[in-house]
Amino acid sequence: MVRRSSQARPAMNFTLRPSKTFLFDLVEHKLSRRGGAIGLDAAAENLKNRKWFKTHSYYGLDIDLNSLRRGIERASNNTSIYGILADLASIDSIQEGSVDVIVSTNTLYHLSEDQRLRAVSHLSRIVSPDGLLLMDLPIQLVSPSIDEVLRNNFLTIERLYFRNFISRFYEGIFERDGDLGSHPIAGTKPFRLLAWLVSRLEYLTSQRPQWNKQVLFICTDKKNQVKLPFDLSTYPMIDGRIYNLLPRIGGDQTSFSISARG
Ligand SMILES: C[S@@+](CC[C@H](N)C(=O)[O-])C[C@H]1O[C@@H](n2cnc3c(N)ncnc32)[C@H](O)[C@@H]1O
Repeated sequence: MVRRSSQARPAMNFTLRPSKTFLFDLVEHKLSRRGGAIGLDAAAENLKNRKWFKTHSYYGLDIDLNSLRRGIERASNNTSIYGILADLASIDSIQEGSVDVIVSTNTLYHLSEDQRLRAVSHLSRIVSPDGLLLMDLPIQLVSPSIDEVLRNNFLTIERLYFRNFISRFYEGIFERDGDLGSHPIAGTKPFRLLAWLVSRLEYLTSQRPQWNKQVLFICTDKKNQVKLPFDLSTYPMIDGRIYNLLPRIGGDQTSFSISARG
């Protein structure tokens, strides 16, 4: 089944965190008119954000096979949705310039500094010349080397800052060990609505790095015009829908002992 570009609707996500709601709304909005052949969600967990993508095919990449399996199971009727089991820092096998839309949200901060730089280098390498790369990071993790990789690869790099002091104050009220999910009130409908209202204030401060903790990079206009085909057909598949780009472990393609964290 081919996925078609649908008409853009205003994005409305209702997460527990105003900062996440802002990020998700922004990404969904940026993708709403972005077609193309191949979309890559890096890292996709259980493919929960696949609805953002308007590309003909959606590939959810993650290092955690169980999460990918859950996502693929839920999307079993949609044959334009695939999983890729891979380590973001080692995706040498994905061809240069072969992916039209790449999104990486809430992931790169899990990786070590070295892995993060390698992941950003790969994502910059595999995005197509007229493609789009969206990725977020805590501002304090944006090293000069990451900046340099982006500058070397893209002519246009827009930065939008978020997680301002108002969102942080709101999130701080409910957070227990960095988690809001376990709070009995934060997840109720009125508080999700309140979180959404607080998230609107992020738009007022998104040009001010000094008031924020996170940055969303919006990278376009690739300098290198090489565009190779996206082809994973030589890699083994798991459950018929998940390409396995990880090295074999003990010859058993379906058992992996890899941590989900970088
Ligand atoms: C917090 S989730 C983010 C999911 C989704 N992108 C979002 O914004 O909600 C982070 C995901 O990164 C995956 N991950 C961590 N390190 C990875 C790596 N080196 N390569 C690929 N995926 C990785 C984890 O398995 C997890 O599913």
